[in-house]
Amino acid sequence: MENRNDARVKIRPLAELELDAAHDMMRLAFGTFLGLPDPMAFMPSANFVGTRWRAFPDRVFAAEVEGRLAGSNIAVRWGSVGFFGPLSVHPKYWDAGVGKRLMEPIMDCFAQWNVSHAGLFTFAQSPKHAGLYERFGFWPRFLTRIMAKEIDTLATPLPAGRVFSQVAVEDRPRVLECCRKLTSSIYDGLDVGSEIMAVENQNLGDTVLLGNDDGISGFAVCHCGHGTEAGVDTCYIKFGAARSAEEFAGLIQEVETMAASRKLKTVMAGSNTARREACKILGARSYRTIIQGVLMQRNNEAAYNREGVFVIDDWR
Ligand SMILES: CC(C)(COP(=O)(O)OP(=O)(O)OC[C@H]1O[C@@H](n2cnc3c(N)ncnc32)[C@H](O)[C@@H]1OP(=O)(O)O)[C@@H](O)C(=O)NCCC(=O)NCCS
Repeated sequence: MENRNDARVKIRPLAELELDAAHDMMRLAFGTFLGLPDPMAFMPSANFVGTRWRAFPDRVFAAEVEGRLAGSNIAVRWGSVGFFGPLSVHPKYWDAGVGKRLMEPIMDCFAQWNVSHAGLFTFAQSPKHAGLYERFGFWPRFLTRIMAKEIDTLATPLPAGRVFSQVAVEDRPRVLECCRKLTSSIYDGLDVGSEIMAVENQNLGDTVLLGNDDGISGFAVCHCGHGTEAGVDTCYIKFGAARSAEEFAGLIQEVETMAASRKLKTVMAGSNTARREACKILGARSYRTIIQGVLMQRNNEAAYNREGVFVIDDWR
């Protein structure tokens, strides 16, 4: 393709039949960008496209060039916060405007949802990525560390009632509301209830709950194992939040116990480095950085990436 913003590029919803192709294209695009000898070795057992499509098919977009799938992008809404990804374009169409076109429906979603904050996680070393997203109002801020720790698989299972899957169906709305109250106290309108329900409905893992009948002092939405966003043998804390440093450390401990009881070998957790105490607590618990990227945030706003916030997430 030679012309930028080529009229042959069509943006449309991704069809269910295309899920495998979009997932493979994502792996090819990232594996190629990272220079892997075999690009398809990228993320062999984790899947971000299928999990997000099954939760909200209308938030997953495809780029088509002359009838062929050329890329995809996914909008994510956490209440008042929006982010997107993975954005991927087949390498043969790079630098021809497809990526920019795939940003259009994302920006439309953010506008429709009227989110008060939006952002993304990207490669900190890439001028192309920074330049592409700057066009859409995003600005690079602090690094995000994606960290991991090998765990002892001999730990005993958590007592019943500390995970969302064991909460009685009639009590779930109350638990979701407690989680929403906790996140909204961190950033007004932040709500990851849809992630808790995606894990529950798709059987992707579980949500660890900290607290008692009076409320929730912390929770962690975890993907576990092959075919989820975690990958084989891994527990990935997709989102975690706690009210205090002590509760944050306790929450991580509970996640490790839950992961061990599922015979998983690794816990993966990310935090923006602007949340210094959260990173420090993970470090003190022997988590080591395996991937480092940068958050780009709309209007250069911090949102909940600041001191004193005990949150795990990485916006991948
Ligand atoms: C990143 C990716 C999605 C971009 O898609 P693409 O179709 O190649 O991108 P486009 O051609 O639409 O846009 C390129 C834009 O990057 C920006 N850009 C490129 N090089 C740049 C540089 N050196 N400095 C600043 N901006 C630059 C420009 O805005 C450019 O558009 P312009 O030439 O019209 O000004 C694609 O390369 C890809 O799939 N990479 C692998 C996976 C990946 O990294 N995904 C994103 C993770 S956050």
